[in-house]
Amino acid sequence: MTEGHSILAMSAFDASNAGDLGQDMQDLVARRLRVFGAGSPLFYRTPIHMQRAEGVWMYDQAGTRYLDCYNNVPSVGHCHPHVVAAIARQAATLNTHTRYIDEGVLNYAEQLLATFPPDFGKIAFTCTGSESSDLALRIARLATGGTGFVVTETAYHGNTSAVSEISPSYGADVPIGLHVRTVKPPDARAPGGDPGENFAASVEAAIADLRRHGVRFAGLMLDSVFSSDGVFAEPAGMLAPASAVVRQAGGVFIADEVQPGFGRTGEAMWGFMRHGITPDLVVLGKPMGNGFPIGAVVARPEIFEVFSRGAGYFNTFGGNPVAAAAGLAVLEVLRRESLIENARKVGAHFREGLRTLAARHSAIADVRGVGLYIGVELHGGAGRARAVVEAMRARHVLLGTAGSRGNVLKLRPPLCFTRAHADMVLQALDDVVQ
Ligand SMILES: Cc1ncc(COP(=O)(O)O)c(C=O)c1O
Repeated sequence: MTEGHSILAMSAFDASNAGDLGQDMQDLVARRLRVFGAGSPLFYRTPIHMQRAEGVWMYDQAGTRYLDCYNNVPSVGHCHPHVVAAIARQAATLNTHTRYIDEGVLNYAEQLLATFPPDFGKIAFTCTGSESSDLALRIARLATGGTGFVVTETAYHGNTSAVSEISPSYGADVPIGLHVRTVKPPDARAPGGDPGENFAASVEAAIADLRRHGVRFAGLMLDSVFSSDGVFAEPAGMLAPASAVVRQAGGVFIADEVQPGFGRTGEAMWGFMRHGITPDLVVLGKPMGNGFPIGAVVARPEIFEVFSRGAGYFNTFGGNPVAAAAGLAVLEVLRRESLIENARKVGAHFREGLRTLAARHSAIADVRGVGLYIGVELHGGAGRARAVVEAMRARHVLLGTAGSRGNVLKLRPPLCFTRAHADMVLQALDDVVQ
């Protein structure tokens, strides 16, 4: 794994600093290195040995609590009691592979599909976002007869062999596929015209370049908040022109909702809905089970039909009864606790506070995002962002970095984050951003 801006290297522990750690931590790090090798990164200059978590708080071995401002997996809150109870109940009743009828799984599939536009009809369950991305690529290829894909320049869509070829954020050591073209994310600050139209023009140029090299276009795959690209979520509606270009070229639009999905944008259940578009395929993962591994591909029926006829799909664990119980409980909590509304309100308060900080600290170049997906771009490159992440960790606040230059702080807390939590982060940032 190369240092630098590879997504795996961001905020990563550097084993050459192991000598600075206490003996217990040195031993644990050495054990980890022995079994996993150096390719499995840990966060922070001094890694954290976590013990338990609850809501927005994580606790280490010594009982020190950390405010989690980074984690979109426990999206409705760490160890949410409703989700934990649903998992425990189902695990004590039945868990099996997916070749039997199970009403819990059916109920969940129906309720999840009901959150999509009416012409979305079919779902296949997986265990991870990477599996979902991989399946979406397969379906797109079969449905279009093409093999070429367009993604953004710092995209991350997962870890399978096929998906790593469309995930340039791995950095220079992991090759981008010869059938893949990259485009810059839409940036509202870029000079010259409308960001959505400019983005559509670069997608069109990428498709033309594929054609020129004899590669038939299959699809455009996007994370609509462009998280690993450095968070470019605004303006809503900006992806409509690119969607039209994709359809015109005979490809499919694949919305990767692993980051913006399940209400994080505070404006809609699904990120693509903010743009007034209906994709052909949707990739789901992380927040879906609040920590229990479950993912899915949701598709327009006619596209899924081509795949069902051509290949079909079986995944031993994908959408098993326990996973479905976790997924259903997440939907219930999202509704009961009005978490989408909360993401909208707390996110707006958070960004406003960050903009006030930006007016005082010249190190902050830009504050952007939507709902509880926020990017704070810093002047001074990855080194400064990394220093802020470390300094925040020292103040017991967890956050990450993103962007092609690694200079964007990524704030992405569980959706039960409150204004008071946001204020704690603002206070700490005020102290550390210089
Ligand atoms: C946008 C996006 N897609 C897909 C994935 C892959 O998900 P997983 O790690 O669950 O396989 C990720 C993971 O970070 C992601 O951020």
